Amino acid sequence: MSLKNKKILIVIGGGISAYKALDLIRLLKKNNVNIKTILTKSGKEFVTPLSVTTLTKNKTFEDIFDKNSEAEIDHISLSRWADLIVVLPTTANFMTKLSIGKAEDLATTVLLASDKDILLVPAMNVRMWLHKATQNNFRILQDYGYIFIGPEKGEMACGEYGEGKMSSPRQIYSYIKDYFDKKNLVIKKKFKALVTTGPTREYLDPVRYISNESSGKQGYEVALALRKLGIETKLISGPSNLIPFKDLKIKNIVSAKEMMCEVKKSLPVDIAVCTAAVSDFKPIYKSKNKIKKTDNRMNSIKFEKNPDILEFLCKSNKDRPKIVVGFCAETEKVIQNAKVKLREKYCDLIVANNVSNKNLGFNSDFNKVSIIDQTGKVISIPKNKKSYIANKIANIILDKLLINDKSIN
Ligand code: C5P
Repeated sequence: MSLKNKKILIVIGGGISAYKALDLIRLLKKNNVNIKTILTKSGKEFVTPLSVTTLTKNKTFEDIFDKNSEAEIDHISLSRWADLIVVLPTTANFMTKLSIGKAEDLATTVLLASDKDILLVPAMNVRMWLHKATQNNFRILQDYGYIFIGPEKGEMACGEYGEGKMSSPRQIYSYIKDYFDKKNLVIKKKFKALVTTGPTREYLDPVRYISNESSGKQGYEVALALRKLGIETKLISGPSNLIPFKDLKIKNIVSAKEMMCEVKKSLPVDIAVCTAAVSDFKPIYKSKNKIKKTDNRMNSIKFEKNPDILEFLCKSNKDRPKIVVGFCAETEKVIQNAKVKLREKYCDLIVANNVSNKNLGFNSDFNKVSIIDQTGKVISIPKNKKSYIANKIANIILDKLLINDKSIN
């Protein structure tokens, strides 16, 4: 049911596995999916436009300048028409073109102009796949948000064995079905999320404050990733230089107290992700006027504890979100300390990062995290862009939410 009337654009690349695109089209058509296709120049060496059109019952697009549909501006209309785009087989050469944003033919132009999720299904010789250049492109493309299916390990057309074999049409079909199942459920359930991010500032006087180095990047990316999954998301952010994204609801706050107020106002939500580096302490008194150099008060400023927002969310009886995620920055015994925090604060997931490495964590575009759940299971995500890590975290949260939801209903 979930696939009925969905619109999928399939780009058929130039590789020996191109013929498998026909099997995938057959499977999708059986489930009432509308399919349009772009056959690349090298794809045409392996399958014919006639066989593709016969199966899709739609025109097969080939050229960027098509005299028969000039008015449509194919490279825009095709991607706007689709609910999802799939490229198979995705060759090493095609990955290179995508990673540098090349727009040299209809396929690459459509992908560059796309506003939809794009699944890439690589197929190539094991050496080509494992080559540093391809692996580099793989990372870049993941960071750009392309979703990869496979490649699998197995025997290849060239007779060699290893990673690089294209996933089977059945595997691709199952992935696409799961993808739409999840999308449909999120729309039906109207899930809501709040994400806290950035530092907080605790003022001593009108111009001086205590704060920390948090840039707010990781939380901002998590909010975008949740939003991309179709979840209505509000980002509550301490002072940061990040440029607001037009589709994301952002509430700017300054102090921990204001953050707590805004969090309370945002309840109820299904998901709460606390990435903010909230100041643990605040001065008991804030001077109305700028404190003078000669003022003795600076010798003994008294601090009090700020409210713990994460703990408040986890332990609240009334509006406890279904999934509460905490973050923790550690410099030693990262997993061990994170597990203690998870237990003490009662959160469902904790994302631990090691901040002893200066190129990761605070103020960096990169991160390396471990996600721990209440059973003690650890999922480690190797060093990557914060946007990539955010997508992983968002998907883990959604999967957990959907599993919990199923067990309740
Ligand atoms: O205890 P610690 O500060 O290390 O815990 C970090 C986690 O707690 C983060 O998820 C952070 O956003 C959250 N936190 C909070 N309010 C505080 C302090 C921390 O929400 N006052």
